[in-house]
Amino acid sequence: MSTPQSDTGPGEAAGARRIYIFDTTLRDGEQSPGISLNTREKLEIAEQLARLGVDIIEAGFPITSLGDFEAVSMIAEKVREPVVCGLARCVDADIDRAAEALKKAERPCIHVFISTSDIHIERKLKKSKDEVLAMAVAGVKRAKRHAEIVEFSPEDATRTAFDYLCKVVAAAIEAGATTVNIPDTVGYSTPHEFGRLIADLRGAVPELDEVILSVHCHNDLGLAVANSLEAVVNGANQVECTINGLGERAGNAAMEEIVMILDTRRRTLNAATNIDTAEIAHTSRMISNLTGYSIQFNKAIVGRNAFAHSSGIHTDGMLKDRTTYEIIDPTRIGLSVSDSKVILGKTSGRHAFRSHLSTLGYELSDDELEGAFARFKELADKKAEITDDDLEAIVADQVRTATEVYKLEYIDTRSGTERTPTAIVRLRRNGEVIERKASGDGQVDASCRALEEATGVKAKLLSYQVSAISGSLDAQGDVNVQLEIEGRTFLGRGVDTDIVAASARAYLNAINKYLSG
Ligand code: KIV
Ligand code: ZN
Repeated sequence: MSTPQSDTGPGEAAGARRIYIFDTTLRDGEQSPGISLNTREKLEIAEQLARLGVDIIEAGFPITSLGDFEAVSMIAEKVREPVVCGLARCVDADIDRAAEALKKAERPCIHVFISTSDIHIERKLKKSKDEVLAMAVAGVKRAKRHAEIVEFSPEDATRTAFDYLCKVVAAAIEAGATTVNIPDTVGYSTPHEFGRLIADLRGAVPELDEVILSVHCHNDLGLAVANSLEAVVNGANQVECTINGLGERAGNAAMEEIVMILDTRRRTLNAATNIDTAEIAHTSRMISNLTGYSIQFNKAIVGRNAFAHSSGIHTDGMLKDRTTYEIIDPTRIGLSVSDSKVILGKTSGRHAFRSHLSTLGYELSDDELEGAFARFKELADKKAEITDDDLEAIVADQVRTATEVYKLEYIDTRSGTERTPTAIVRLRRNGEVIERKASGDGQVDASCRALEEATGVKAKLLSYQVSAISGSLDAQGDVNVQLEIEGRTFLGRGVDTDIVAASARAYLNAINKYLSG
């Protein structure tokens, strides 16, 4: 769409600077409190990131857990197009573990980092600046023994003394780093300041012209996207970001925002990515479904209101010409014009089901397909119109629960104005069937207590949210819970036409995450 206020149009990409997109949803994004994805879910996400067209996938931090190591190994083996990257501190054991996880990758990248700010060096690392410099050089050299592509990050760069930062960056390049990444680790910088830092670094360290200059911004002051953009304007050629802005604390720069800024204002910014923007909406929904992090309604680009117009004057303008109030054509990010089309019904068979899922970007194993198909048939009996959103929710639920320790086989709840609410749940663990009954303040409370009885896990409910997958009365309920178990937080999500069953699925999903651990 080319509009008077939008820069996008055919031909404008020619001559534009290429900006590389480094996705860290599976590493920094997974550090968001409560998110814990299993290997199957991570692979599903990595495959979608490849379809989206990201240049680099940071698949995890292999030394931190066996789960991370296995996920990075699996993604390195199966995902071919993007570079696959593993994170490591400038410590031999970390680097060797990352190399081991990446050994089947076509194009592996080891990302080594060490803090360079005075506050981190003195209070966290308790080392001298010379020692840190030596560790950075040794870390890059060791990574270089295993991989051609090595990224180096001076952690907390925006609070690092400029001369020391230049010294470390130049030394890392001399040691073999092919990418230098400048992180605003604590989200402290402002756009003007961060842009200046990138321009000054380019001026002071000419060796940066031989490598990729990357940025990695956190969102503590809500400036991660603005800071990344200002860095691009001032010479950065790679942006590290996450889908839906997930990440440590307030998160990282949101990829969909960076990409759509560069796309919508291409002529002004003269920079372009390789992202297939038509995959953005689907990727965002998939990440939200699998992580349990719902998307703020008014979130830029992917929020449910991002293309909704309510004031009379705006709707009138839209009806006359969409570009009066829309700077992005929703189809450009993969939304259909009506955005909720009916696609399959009661009579659809397995073949149609599988092939439609494939057009949505989901390739399920035979077992997963069987489970998802059974859920689809159940839903088709209850709900007249099944939308893509319904299907995506079912598939995400299936993928989420496929490898769970306990499976919910059955739930029966009773309540009324004159009786104490009760719930019976039946779970399966390997071959064993466990059935428990409990009462509670309401049907949801009774179900959760019955699940605690059945699994032997005591949890504290920190938050509980219900929303509807689509707008109709027969919509599927989508429940998100946050549980505290033994001092740690676990997110759970469940989908069902019955809100109580959706709640039980979500509660059990969080317990299962704790148990798989
Ligand atoms: O925020 C940060 O500094 C990081 C580094 C590991 C790049 O995530
Ligand atoms: Zn980070």
